[in-house]
Parts: sequence; structure tokens; C-alpha cells
Amino acid sequence: MTSGGNLKVVCRPDYEAMSQAAVERVFSQLQRKPDSLVILPTGSSPERTYELLVERARQQPGLCDRVRLMKLDEWGGLEPDDPGSCEMTLQETVAKPLGLGPGRLLGWRSNPADVEAECERIRQLLAQEGPPDLCILGIGLNGHLGLNEPGATLIPGPHRAELLPESRGHSMLRRARREPEYGLTLGIGDILASGEILLLVSGRSKQEPLQRLLKPEVSTSFPASFLWLHPKVTVYCDEAALQG
Ligand code: GLP
Repeated sequence: MTSGGNLKVVCRPDYEAMSQAAVERVFSQLQRKPDSLVILPTGSSPERTYELLVERARQQPGLCDRVRLMKLDEWGGLEPDDPGSCEMTLQETVAKPLGLGPGRLLGWRSNPADVEAECERIRQLLAQEGPPDLCILGIGLNGHLGLNEPGATLIPGPHRAELLPESRGHSMLRRARREPEYGLTLGIGDILASGEILLLVSGRSKQEPLQRLLKPEVSTSFPASFLWLHPKVTVYCDEAALQG
């Protein structure tokens, strides 16, 4: 393990080993606090970690009985049953395989009639259930966290986000029935309110954002840099992302 100040970096040879290391951290959290509130991203970075979590939960019945899971973000305007939605993705890869009923995955409705009211509902949900014990994150190619996109300002709480072209081109949207109209995301303040943060970074395409992240500078033009303001962040990466 190396450390860049507050950011601990755990680098493993490949995606599999990186995912193994990350899931160990998730297990120890669930063992220490079975009803932990855990924030979940989508995307390719956490896919193997989720599979390993499900495998371990099968070997250790009861491990995830009390966990509270919450979606980090969502593609606004997709139907909840759209195969490209974060809802469907997390239902299929995490909630259902863990045997958690539909109501056990908290968070965004993907196509709310009133977006502002939906943001307020999520604010209240976080006030009741939060702060999150653990927040798992991926990093966007443009440095976004959740759908907190680079820009002149960042928004602390749950909000509607205008999607940048890089995000609209995200691979999970290839299976969507339509294009998202906007993003719905927890804000940077919600992320930083978490007890602990795990950031998963894998593959050569993430080399540039990872290099930028490891510089101890904070800028709204690179939202992931705000992780420097949190005391307990571990970056789990593979050699391809760290060294290219
Ligand atoms: C999307 C998702 C985020 C995810 C990010 C990185 O924006 N909505 O939750 O963290 O992309 O995705 P990937 O891991 O596929 O690079």
C-alpha cells in the first residue's frame, strides 16, 4: 500500500486481484456493522466486486441480511426497468442475487414526474438513513464521481445533473432503450459525509484520471479531487490504471 496523504492507494496486478482486495474491505465493514448503509455505483469498475460479494454472501448466510444499500446515481428519464438504468443493473447484479426484495435498494427513481421533489425525497432519505457508512465509487474518464460532472461549481447535495458528452457515451447506456435526459446523483457533500470511501479504478483508460487524482490539488474541474478532503479514502486500482 502506498499513500498520497489522505488517499491510500492499494494497487493489485489486475482487475480480479483489485476486486478481491476491495471486497475484503466491504466484508469487514459488514462484519463490524451488519446494518451498514452502503452507497453503490454502477459501471464496469465494481462489477467483479459485486460478484465476489454475492459469492461470499452465499458462503456466509446472514452476512447481508441487514445491510442497507443505496444507489449513488441514476440516468434520468429511463424507465426503471430499462436494462441500462442503474436500478436494473443493481437489482440484477446485487439486490436479487443477495436475496434482497425490491424495496431494499434505496435511492433514485429513474423517471420522476417532478425532479426537484425527487431530489428532496433523496435528501430526506439520507437525513433518515445516513450518513453512509461506506461509499463505493468509480471514477469517470472526465473525473466525475457519481454524476457530479466537472464544471465551475459542484453541488453538495442530491441533484439533477446536466450530462457531459463523456457521460452520455458511457458503456452501460449501450443496453439502454433510450438516451437519458439528465443525471440524478448524490452530491459531493453527500459522498464526503460517508464514514469511509472506496474508489475502484481499473484499466489503461483510467490512467490519466488516476494520475490527475494522485496530485494533491482540489478543483471543481476534476470532481474526484475532492476526495482529498476526506480523511478515509482508499483507492483500489490495478497496474494497468496506475502504470498504463
Ligand atoms: C457512470 C456511473 C457511475 C460510475 C462511472 C464510472 O457515470 N453512473 O456510477 O462510477 O460511470 O464508470 P466505469 O466504472 O464503467 O468506468
